[in-house]
Amino acid sequence: MGRISIHSLKQSKAEGKRFAMITAYDYPMARLVEQAGIPIILVGDSLGSVVLGYESTVPVTMDDILYHTRAVVRATSKAIVVADMPFMSYQANADEAMRNAGRLLQEGGATAVKLEGGSHVAPLVRRMVESGIPVMGHLGLTPQSVNQFGGHKVQGKTPAAAAKLLSDARALEEAGAFAVVLETIPAPLSRMVTERISIPTIGIGAGPHCDGQVQVLHDMLGIYDDRRPLKHAKRYAVLGETIRDAVRTYVSEVEGQQFPGKEHSFEMDEATMTELAAV
Ligand code: KIV
Repeated sequence: MGRISIHSLKQSKAEGKRFAMITAYDYPMARLVEQAGIPIILVGDSLGSVVLGYESTVPVTMDDILYHTRAVVRATSKAIVVADMPFMSYQANADEAMRNAGRLLQEGGATAVKLEGGSHVAPLVRRMVESGIPVMGHLGLTPQSVNQFGGHKVQGKTPAAAAKLLSDARALEEAGAFAVVLETIPAPLSRMVTERISIPTIGIGAGPHCDGQVQVLHDMLGIYDDRRPLKHAKRYAVLGETIRDAVRTYVSEVEGQQFPGKEHSFEMDEATMTELAAV
């Protein structure tokens, strides 16, 4: 059996079934999240903040996303793998955008790409879809425009901004996008968008009405205690502390000569020992 089809997400929407997407950036984590039943993995450019130590997603490059997408694809056999198009990989010109999107499928092995923006990227989305590249849209607080927004603020709060977001969602739907992420917008607005377009909406900080939800893996696993995303991130574990505890115990057992024990060591037979003693 191959990977889940992108069309099954539309089917889920039609049947009123919710689905979960999560980010993953490497082999072990992608393997674990697929084993846990995640149908769709995003190799997000949040990679920049949670794996590569940058302040934002802006410095992430095509090479970074390709490298991590390959690892996620190697680790999985069922999940849809969506690769984020990094900042400036699709904004400068359409031909370059096409080539970069193609690379994510051809060299990275991704099922689909995601890019940020509404009606202004719709012609590009259409061209990609017509060329056989499935596209996921991304509206609301689009992190690549964080410098333009002046910080991480809830988007779509005024009537004009909400109407623009609605028309952007329609433009992406008409261009052939198979789903759209709605990030950090009021819940009533995401409900309206979800009801008015036929493709699935996937929310992060967009309330409970979206067809799917997405979370950043390192936030939900509690890897960092000094990274405080907006209130939409829910911690399902505190792995940062679990990892520190395990490593502290290892350090102390090495220093206290408790590790390695007999059970972690390899023996030598008596005859070899006797022969060696004479050397
Ligand atoms: O890069 C990312 O992780 C994302 C999600 C927040 C949707 O784009």
